[in-house]
Amino acid sequence: MENRLIVALDVPSLAKAKELIDVLDDAANFYKVGLELFLNTRGEILDYLKTKEKKIFLDLKFHDIPNTVTQAAKWAAGLGVDMFNVHASGGGVMMSTTVETVKNTALNNGFKVPLIIGVTVLTSFDIESFSQVGYKYTIPETVMNLAQLCQKSGLDGVVCSPQEANQIKTVCGQEFMTVCPGVRPRGTLLEDQKRITTPQEAIKMGADYLVVGRPITKSINPNQAAKDIVTEMVTI
Ligand code: C5P
Repeated sequence: MENRLIVALDVPSLAKAKELIDVLDDAANFYKVGLELFLNTRGEILDYLKTKEKKIFLDLKFHDIPNTVTQAAKWAAGLGVDMFNVHASGGGVMMSTTVETVKNTALNNGFKVPLIIGVTVLTSFDIESFSQVGYKYTIPETVMNLAQLCQKSGLDGVVCSPQEANQIKTVCGQEFMTVCPGVRPRGTLLEDQKRITTPQEAIKMGADYLVVGRPITKSINPNQAAKDIVTEMVTI
């Protein structure tokens, strides 16, 4: 189960990130590097994670025209990350050309093909904030539409709320991967997350990977917090 926990390293400096990785030690093997840390370390954090033999999810959520995303994706894959993501709402052409280009580039240059995951609807959206951006379908309907589009476009899976994982598996099949933020152990703060579950519920609902940030990174004992989450994931 340790390998199904992805720790979101949303911290303001390389020093802070290194400190957390060292404190977490064997309690975490898979890390998500998002916009904040990638920018404030100018990408250097990736090298540190590799020297520590940790897996990397590069969470830059590409959302642009097909050509721009495809070129960015080539660079992401060339950095040797294990997983990266694009916004599914960028469309089918953007996603399918990205998959094809990354696979060809990896083949021609001898590097591994990373998992490519589509972001459906951010877990910070609730019904009210979602309607403000003008979507005419409900959140579950939109998530399902986007998940199916991701699958048709050749992506490996989606980022979604654990609340949606079960239905995605039913429609897209068990092999289609669900990567789920919006996870909160009981007694921790929701902060800006809205469509949340506990770690145990997330696993029961079909989440393949749990992405957890602040409940670990802001804990007074991050190592124990990560271990407690993994224990909860196992005891189902
Ligand atoms: O601190 P917290 O556990 O809320 O962190 C969740 C992480 O997952 C953040 O880095 C956030 O950017 C990311 N994420 C998310 N919802 C999505 C996609 C990514 O919360 N739909």
